[in-house]
Amino acid sequence: MKIEQNVERVLISAEELSARIKELGAQITADYKGEPLTIVCILKGAVMFFAELAKEIDLPLQMDFMRVSSYYAGTKSTGAVKILLDLDEDITGRHILLVEDIVDCGNTLAYLQDYLRNRGAKSVNICALLNKPARRRKDVHVNYAGFVIPDEFIIGYGLDYAEDYRNLPYIGVLKRSVYEKSDN
Ligand code: IMP
Ligand code: MG
Repeated sequence: MKIEQNVERVLISAEELSARIKELGAQITADYKGEPLTIVCILKGAVMFFAELAKEIDLPLQMDFMRVSSYYAGTKSTGAVKILLDLDEDITGRHILLVEDIVDCGNTLAYLQDYLRNRGAKSVNICALLNKPARRRKDVHVNYAGFVIPDEFIIGYGLDYAEDYRNLPYIGVLKRSVYEKSDN
C-alpha cells in the first residue's frame, strides 16, 4: 500500500518547506549571534524540521532533545502534558530555542516554556514549523513560525497520525475517512 493513498492533498511541498526553513535559519543566525544557544528538538514530530533547521543556523550551538506526551485521543488533545525524556545538559545561562513541529492548542509549549524558565535558562523562545491558531487555548508567543495553516489534521515531515506517515517528505492533509471511523 502506498502511504500517499490516505493523503487528501499536499498542503506544503518539500520545496516550499526547505525555502522557508532557510529563511528561518537566517533569522535565527542573526538574532543569536554571539550568544550561547541550545536548540531543543521536541520528539518525535520535530525531527525532520530540527535536522534541516540546524543546518541552516550558521552559529556554534548545542543540540538537546525532549520528548513529551500531549495525551492525544485520536486527533484531539486532552490538554495534559507529561515529560517522557528530559534534557541531558545543564541549561543555566543559555538561550533555549524550542523546536516544535506544530502549535495547535498551545498546551505543550506553554508547559515546556514554564518548565525550562524555572531551570535557569537565559531565555526560552519557540520556533514552530506550523502554527494552527484556530484551536489555540493557551496564550503562547511563537517567536519563529514557518507557516500558518488552517484547522485541518495534517501529516508528514515528522507529523503523524497514530505513529504513521512521519516519513512523507511534504505536509499533507489526512483524508477524514481515515480518522472519522475511530474518533468521536
Ligand atoms: P498542542 O499542545 O495542542 O499545541 O499540541 C501540539 C502537538 O500536537 C504537536 O506537537 C503534534 O504532535 C500534535 N498535533 C497537533 N495538531 C496536529 C496535526 O494536525 N497533525 C499531527 N499532529 C498534530
Ligand atoms: Mg509533537
